[in-house]
Amino acid sequence: MTPSTSTTTATVLASLILLLVPTSYSSSFITEKFRHSPIPQSDIDLLEFPLNLEYLEAEFFLYGSSGQGLDKFAPNLTMGGPTPLGARVANLDPFTRDVIKQFAWQEVGHLRAIKNTVQGFPRPLLDLSPKSFAKTMDAAFGRSLSPPFDPYASSLHFLIASYVIPYVGLTGYVGANPNLQANASKRLVAGLLAVESGQDAVIRALLYEHAMTKVDPYGMTVAEFTNRISVLRNRLGHAGIKDEGLVVPKWLGAEGRIGGNVLAGDEFSLGYARTPEEILRVVYGSGNESIPGGFYPKGADGRIAKSHLQSAA
Ligand SMILES: *[C@@H]1O[C@H](CO)[C@@H](O)[C@H](O)[C@H]1NC(C)=O
Ligand SMILES: *[C@@H]1O[C@H](CO)[C@@H](O)[C@H](O)[C@H]1NC(C)=O
Ligand SMILES: *[C@@H]1O[C@H](CO)[C@@H](O)[C@H](O)[C@H]1NC(C)=O
Repeated sequence: MTPSTSTTTATVLASLILLLVPTSYSSSFITEKFRHSPIPQSDIDLLEFPLNLEYLEAEFFLYGSSGQGLDKFAPNLTMGGPTPLGARVANLDPFTRDVIKQFAWQEVGHLRAIKNTVQGFPRPLLDLSPKSFAKTMDAAFGRSLSPPFDPYASSLHFLIASYVIPYVGLTGYVGANPNLQANASKRLVAGLLAVESGQDAVIRALLYEHAMTKVDPYGMTVAEFTNRISVLRNRLGHAGIKDEGLVVPKWLGAEGRIGGNVLAGDEFSLGYARTPEEILRVVYGSGNESIPGGFYPKGADGRIAKSHLQSAA
Protein backbone atom coordinates (compact mmCIF):
# COMPACT_ATOMS: atom_id res chain seq x y z
CA MET A 1 0.00 0.00 0.00
CA THR A 2 2.50 2.59 1.23
CA PRO A 3 5.08 1.93 -1.50
CA SER A 4 2.41 2.14 -4.17
CA THR A 5 1.04 5.41 -2.77
CA SER A 6 4.47 6.96 -2.59
CA THR A 7 5.20 5.80 -6.14
CA THR A 8 2.02 7.45 -7.28
CA THR A 9 2.86 10.62 -5.39
CA ALA A 10 6.33 10.61 -6.91
CA THR A 11 4.89 10.13 -10.39
CA VAL A 12 2.40 12.95 -9.90
CA LEU A 13 5.14 15.22 -8.56
CA ALA A 14 7.42 14.35 -11.44
CA SER A 15 4.75 15.14 -14.02
CA LEU A 16 3.94 18.38 -12.22
CA ILE A 17 7.58 19.39 -12.33
CA LEU A 18 7.79 18.45 -16.01
CA LEU A 19 4.73 20.59 -16.67
CA LEU A 20 5.95 23.49 -14.59
CA VAL A 21 9.52 23.76 -15.83
CA PRO A 22 8.84 24.52 -19.47
CA THR A 23 6.01 26.87 -18.49
CA SER A 24 8.20 28.98 -16.26
CA TYR A 25 10.95 29.05 -18.90
CA SER A 26 8.59 30.16 -21.61
CA SER A 27 6.93 32.81 -19.47
CA SER A 28 10.27 34.39 -18.53
CA PHE A 29 11.19 34.32 -22.23
CA ILE A 30 7.96 36.06 -23.16
CA THR A 31 8.52 38.69 -20.50
CA GLU A 32 11.98 39.41 -21.83
CA LYS A 33 10.87 39.41 -25.40
CA PHE A 34 7.74 41.47 -25.27
CA ARG A 35 7.59 43.52 -22.10
CA HIS A 36 11.23 44.57 -22.04
CA SER A 37 10.84 45.10 -18.32
CA PRO A 38 13.95 43.18 -17.19
CA ILE A 39 16.16 45.23 -19.51
CA PRO A 40 17.54 48.39 -17.86
CA GLN A 41 17.73 51.67 -19.79
CA SER A 42 21.53 51.53 -20.05
CA ASP A 43 21.20 48.17 -21.84
CA ILE A 44 18.49 49.56 -24.11
CA ASP A 45 20.79 52.38 -25.19
CA LEU A 46 23.66 49.98 -25.87
CA LEU A 47 21.39 47.60 -27.81
CA GLU A 48 19.80 50.34 -29.90
CA PHE A 49 23.08 51.98 -30.87
CA PRO A 50 24.22 49.13 -33.18
CA LEU A 51 20.98 49.44 -35.17
CA ASN A 52 22.75 52.32 -36.90
CA LEU A 53 25.41 49.94 -38.20
CA GLU A 54 23.03 47.06 -38.89
CA TYR A 55 20.90 49.31 -41.10
CA LEU A 56 24.02 50.35 -43.00
CA GLU A 57 25.18 46.78 -43.50
CA ALA A 58 21.74 45.48 -44.45
CA GLU A 59 21.31 48.17 -47.10
CA PHE A 60 24.84 47.94 -48.49
CA PHE A 61 24.65 44.15 -48.84
CA LEU A 62 21.05 44.07 -50.10
CA TYR A 63 21.65 46.74 -52.74
CA GLY A 64 25.09 45.44 -53.68
CA SER A 65 23.81 41.92 -54.32
CA SER A 66 20.35 42.66 -55.72
CA GLY A 67 19.91 46.35 -56.56
CA GLN A 68 17.11 46.79 -53.98
CA GLY A 69 17.02 47.36 -50.26
CA LEU A 70 14.83 47.18 -47.17
CA ASP A 71 12.14 49.30 -48.85
CA LYS A 72 11.47 46.30 -51.06
CA PHE A 73 12.40 43.34 -48.88
CA ALA A 74 11.42 44.37 -45.33
CA PRO A 75 9.76 47.81 -45.38
CA ASN A 76 8.47 47.48 -41.81
CA LEU A 77 11.99 47.31 -40.48
CA THR A 78 12.75 50.81 -41.78
CA MET A 79 9.98 52.31 -39.58
CA GLY A 80 9.60 54.94 -42.33
CA GLY A 81 13.21 56.16 -42.35
CA PRO A 82 14.50 57.69 -45.61
CA THR A 83 15.77 55.58 -48.52
CA PRO A 84 19.60 55.40 -48.61
CA LEU A 85 21.40 57.72 -51.01
CA GLY A 86 23.38 56.33 -53.92
CA ALA A 87 23.18 52.58 -53.18
CA ARG A 88 23.17 50.35 -56.25
CA VAL A 89 23.79 46.84 -57.50
CA ALA A 90 27.49 45.92 -57.68
CA ASN A 91 29.22 44.20 -60.56
CA LEU A 92 29.76 40.94 -58.66
CA ASP A 93 30.80 37.50 -59.86
CA PRO A 94 28.27 34.75 -59.01
CA PHE A 95 30.25 33.42 -56.02
CA THR A 96 30.65 36.84 -54.38
CA ARG A 97 27.02 37.71 -55.08
CA ASP A 98 25.93 34.48 -53.38
CA VAL A 99 28.02 35.27 -50.26
CA ILE A 100 26.89 38.91 -50.09
CA LYS A 101 23.23 37.87 -50.45
CA GLN A 102 23.66 35.61 -47.44
CA PHE A 103 25.22 38.48 -45.46
CA ALA A 104 22.31 40.72 -46.52
CA TRP A 105 19.67 38.37 -45.13
CA GLN A 106 21.74 37.84 -41.99
CA GLU A 107 21.65 41.60 -41.44
CA VAL A 108 17.89 41.63 -41.91
CA GLY A 109 17.73 38.96 -39.20
CA HIS A 110 19.92 41.09 -36.93
CA LEU A 111 17.59 44.06 -37.36
CA ARG A 112 14.65 41.83 -36.41
CA ALA A 113 16.50 40.38 -33.42
CA ILE A 114 17.36 43.79 -32.01
CA LYS A 115 13.84 45.09 -32.60
CA ASN A 116 12.35 42.03 -30.89
CA THR A 117 14.28 43.08 -27.80
CA VAL A 118 14.19 46.90 -27.85
CA GLN A 119 11.93 49.34 -29.63
CA GLY A 120 14.61 50.88 -31.81
CA PHE A 121 14.30 53.82 -34.19
CA PRO A 122 13.70 54.42 -37.91
CA ARG A 123 16.46 53.88 -40.46
CA PRO A 124 18.73 56.94 -40.38
CA LEU A 125 19.70 58.68 -43.61
CA LEU A 126 22.58 56.67 -45.10
CA ASP A 127 24.94 57.83 -47.82
CA LEU A 128 26.03 54.71 -49.72
CA SER A 129 26.96 56.57 -52.91
CA PRO A 130 30.25 55.81 -54.65
CA LYS A 131 31.27 59.36 -53.68
CA SER A 132 30.88 58.56 -49.99
CA PHE A 133 33.20 55.53 -50.27
CA ALA A 134 35.58 57.47 -52.52
CA LYS A 135 35.91 60.12 -49.84
CA THR A 136 36.85 57.47 -47.27
CA MET A 137 39.47 55.99 -49.61
CA ASP A 138 40.90 59.43 -50.41
CA ALA A 139 41.18 60.12 -46.68
CA ALA A 140 42.86 56.72 -46.20
CA PHE A 141 45.46 57.43 -48.91
CA GLY A 142 45.83 61.11 -48.09
CA ARG A 143 45.24 62.06 -51.73
CA SER A 144 42.50 61.86 -54.37
CA LEU A 145 42.49 58.50 -56.12
CA SER A 146 41.97 58.78 -59.85
CA PRO A 147 39.46 57.61 -60.94
CA PRO A 148 37.57 57.91 -57.63
CA PHE A 149 37.18 54.56 -55.83
CA ASP A 150 33.88 52.89 -56.79
CA PRO A 151 32.71 50.17 -54.36
CA TYR A 152 30.24 48.83 -56.93
CA ALA A 153 32.78 48.41 -59.78
CA SER A 154 33.82 44.76 -59.19
CA SER A 155 33.81 41.96 -56.63
CA LEU A 156 37.23 43.04 -55.39
CA HIS A 157 36.14 46.67 -55.02
CA PHE A 158 32.99 45.59 -53.20
CA LEU A 159 34.92 43.34 -50.79
CA ILE A 160 37.37 46.16 -50.04
CA ALA A 161 34.40 48.45 -49.36
CA SER A 162 32.91 45.71 -47.16
CA TYR A 163 36.16 45.68 -45.18
CA VAL A 164 35.16 49.21 -44.22
CA ILE A 165 31.93 48.14 -42.47
CA PRO A 166 31.14 44.93 -40.43
CA TYR A 167 34.45 45.07 -38.59
CA VAL A 168 33.48 48.35 -36.97
CA GLY A 169 30.24 46.77 -35.73
CA LEU A 170 32.17 43.83 -34.35
CA THR A 171 34.43 46.04 -32.21
CA GLY A 172 31.30 47.79 -30.93
CA TYR A 173 29.79 44.49 -29.73
CA VAL A 174 33.04 43.55 -27.98
CA GLY A 175 32.98 46.98 -26.33
CA ALA A 176 29.31 46.82 -25.30
CA ASN A 177 29.37 43.34 -23.78
CA PRO A 178 30.98 44.08 -20.37
CA ASN A 179 28.62 47.02 -19.87
CA LEU A 180 25.42 44.98 -20.29
CA GLN A 181 23.39 43.86 -17.28
CA ALA A 182 20.44 41.72 -18.37
CA ASN A 183 20.93 38.14 -19.52
CA ALA A 184 18.73 38.77 -22.54
CA SER A 185 21.00 41.63 -23.63
CA LYS A 186 24.13 39.54 -23.28
CA ARG A 187 22.60 36.68 -25.20
CA LEU A 188 21.60 39.00 -28.03
CA VAL A 189 24.99 40.71 -28.23
CA ALA A 190 26.89 37.40 -28.12
CA GLY A 191 24.76 36.16 -31.01
CA LEU A 192 25.28 39.32 -33.03
CA LEU A 193 29.01 39.36 -32.31
CA ALA A 194 29.38 35.76 -33.44
CA VAL A 195 27.85 36.31 -36.86
CA GLU A 196 29.42 39.76 -37.45
CA SER A 197 32.82 38.21 -36.68
CA GLY A 198 32.03 35.41 -39.09
CA GLN A 199 31.21 37.91 -41.83
CA ASP A 200 34.40 39.83 -41.14
CA ALA A 201 36.40 36.60 -41.28
CA VAL A 202 34.87 35.63 -44.63
CA ILE A 203 35.54 39.09 -46.10
CA ARG A 204 39.11 39.10 -44.81
CA ALA A 205 39.78 35.54 -46.01
CA LEU A 206 38.51 36.36 -49.51
CA LEU A 207 40.67 39.49 -49.58
CA TYR A 208 43.69 37.72 -48.05
CA GLU A 209 43.72 35.31 -50.97
CA HIS A 210 44.31 38.39 -53.16
CA ALA A 211 46.46 40.34 -50.72
CA MET A 212 49.19 40.91 -53.32
CA THR A 213 46.79 41.54 -56.21
CA LYS A 214 46.92 45.08 -57.54
CA VAL A 215 43.58 46.83 -57.42
CA ASP A 216 42.73 48.04 -60.90
CA PRO A 217 43.53 50.78 -61.97
CA TYR A 218 45.41 52.10 -58.92
CA GLY A 219 48.48 49.86 -58.99
CA MET A 220 48.26 49.36 -55.21
CA THR A 221 47.73 45.98 -53.59
CA VAL A 222 44.68 44.78 -51.69
CA ALA A 223 46.87 44.54 -48.57
CA GLU A 224 47.85 48.19 -48.94
CA PHE A 225 44.20 49.22 -49.21
CA THR A 226 43.32 47.35 -46.02
CA ASN A 227 46.33 48.74 -44.16
CA ARG A 228 45.48 52.29 -45.19
CA ILE A 229 41.81 51.89 -44.18
CA SER A 230 42.79 50.45 -40.80
CA VAL A 231 45.30 53.23 -40.13
CA LEU A 232 42.61 55.79 -41.02
CA ARG A 233 40.11 54.18 -38.62
CA ASN A 234 42.70 54.15 -35.84
CA ARG A 235 43.39 57.84 -36.48
CA LEU A 236 39.68 58.79 -36.50
CA GLY A 237 38.88 56.71 -33.40
CA HIS A 238 41.49 58.55 -31.26
CA ALA A 239 41.97 55.46 -29.10
CA GLY A 240 45.16 53.78 -30.28
CA ILE A 241 45.40 50.64 -32.41
CA LYS A 242 42.08 48.80 -32.71
CA ASP A 243 42.26 48.03 -36.37
CA GLU A 244 44.81 46.10 -38.41
CA GLY A 245 45.21 45.42 -42.12
CA LEU A 246 45.77 42.06 -43.80
CA VAL A 247 49.56 42.21 -43.68
CA VAL A 248 51.20 43.88 -40.70
CA PRO A 249 54.67 44.30 -39.18
CA LYS A 250 55.44 41.10 -37.25
CA TRP A 251 55.17 42.81 -33.85
CA LEU A 252 51.51 43.49 -34.56
CA GLY A 253 50.66 39.94 -35.70
CA ALA A 254 49.57 37.04 -33.46
CA GLU A 255 52.02 36.63 -30.55
CA GLY A 256 54.26 39.20 -32.25
CA ARG A 257 55.50 36.40 -34.48
CA ILE A 258 53.79 36.62 -37.83
CA GLY A 259 53.03 39.27 -40.45
CA GLY A 260 50.07 37.54 -42.11
CA ASN A 261 46.97 38.92 -40.44
CA VAL A 262 43.89 37.22 -41.82
CA LEU A 263 42.11 38.10 -38.54
CA ALA A 264 42.71 41.22 -36.46
CA GLY A 265 43.24 40.91 -32.72
CA ASP A 266 45.02 42.52 -29.79
CA GLU A 267 48.27 41.32 -28.14
CA PHE A 268 46.41 38.19 -26.96
CA SER A 269 44.58 37.81 -30.30
CA LEU A 270 41.33 38.92 -28.65
CA GLY A 271 38.90 41.11 -30.55
CA TYR A 272 39.43 44.85 -30.08
CA ALA A 273 36.70 46.81 -28.25
CA ARG A 274 35.38 50.20 -29.34
CA THR A 275 33.02 52.55 -27.49
CA PRO A 276 30.00 54.03 -29.28
CA GLU A 277 31.87 57.36 -29.38
CA GLU A 278 34.88 55.82 -31.10
CA ILE A 279 32.56 54.20 -33.62
CA LEU A 280 30.77 57.46 -34.35
CA ARG A 281 34.11 59.21 -34.94
CA VAL A 282 34.97 56.53 -37.50
CA VAL A 283 31.67 56.19 -39.37
CA TYR A 284 31.12 59.96 -39.50
CA GLY A 285 34.61 60.24 -40.99
CA SER A 286 35.05 63.38 -38.90
CA GLY A 287 37.01 61.99 -35.96
CA ASN A 288 34.44 63.69 -33.72
CA GLU A 289 31.24 62.08 -32.40
CA SER A 290 29.55 65.52 -32.47
CA ILE A 291 30.24 66.16 -36.16
CA PRO A 292 28.13 63.94 -38.42
CA GLY A 293 29.07 63.13 -41.99
CA GLY A 294 30.44 60.22 -43.99
CA PHE A 295 27.88 57.42 -44.18
CA TYR A 296 25.51 59.35 -41.85
CA PRO A 297 25.02 62.85 -43.30
CA LYS A 298 22.49 63.74 -40.61
CA GLY A 299 24.05 61.70 -37.85
CA ALA A 300 23.18 58.38 -36.21
CA ASP A 301 20.06 57.77 -34.08
CA GLY A 302 19.37 56.46 -30.57
CA ARG A 303 20.06 58.12 -27.22
CA ILE A 304 23.83 57.70 -27.24
CA ALA A 305 24.43 59.16 -30.70
CA LYS A 306 21.85 61.91 -30.24
CA SER A 307 23.34 63.03 -26.94
CA HIS A 308 26.50 63.99 -28.83
CA LEU A 309 24.63 65.71 -31.64
CA GLN A 310 22.65 67.81 -29.18
CA SER A 311 25.76 68.81 -27.29
CA ALA A 312 27.18 70.11 -30.57
CA ALA A 313 24.06 72.13 -31.37
C1 LIG B 1 4.10 45.44 -41.57
O1 LIG B 1 3.28 46.59 -41.48
C2 LIG B 1 1.98 46.39 -42.01
C3 LIG B 1 1.27 47.73 -42.03
O2 LIG B 1 1.48 48.44 -40.84
C4 LIG B 1 1.27 45.33 -41.17
O3 LIG B 1 -0.02 45.10 -41.67
C5 LIG B 1 2.08 44.04 -41.23
O4 LIG B 1 1.52 43.09 -40.38
C6 LIG B 1 3.51 44.28 -40.80
N1 LIG B 1 4.28 43.08 -41.04
C7 LIG B 1 5.12 42.59 -40.15
C8 LIG B 1 5.84 41.36 -40.57
O5 LIG B 1 5.31 43.09 -39.07
C1 LIG C 1 20.56 35.51 -15.38
O1 LIG C 1 21.71 34.77 -15.08
C2 LIG C 1 21.94 34.55 -13.72
C3 LIG C 1 23.25 33.88 -13.55
O2 LIG C 1 23.32 32.72 -14.34
C4 LIG C 1 20.79 33.74 -13.15
O3 LIG C 1 20.99 33.57 -11.75
C5 LIG C 1 19.50 34.49 -13.38
O4 LIG C 1 18.42 33.70 -12.95
C6 LIG C 1 19.33 34.82 -14.86
N1 LIG C 1 18.19 35.66 -15.03
C7 LIG C 1 17.28 35.46 -15.94
C8 LIG C 1 16.19 36.46 -15.99
O5 LIG C 1 17.32 34.54 -16.72
C1 LIG D 1 34.02 68.02 -31.50
O1 LIG D 1 33.14 68.92 -32.09
C2 LIG D 1 32.47 69.76 -31.17
C3 LIG D 1 31.44 70.56 -31.92
O2 LIG D 1 32.02 71.21 -33.00
C4 LIG D 1 33.52 70.63 -30.46
O3 LIG D 1 32.87 71.44 -29.49
C5 LIG D 1 34.53 69.72 -29.77
O4 LIG D 1 35.55 70.47 -29.20
C6 LIG D 1 35.12 68.73 -30.75
N1 LIG D 1 35.92 67.77 -30.02
C7 LIG D 1 37.19 67.55 -30.31
C8 LIG D 1 37.87 66.53 -29.46
O5 LIG D 1 37.75 68.13 -31.20
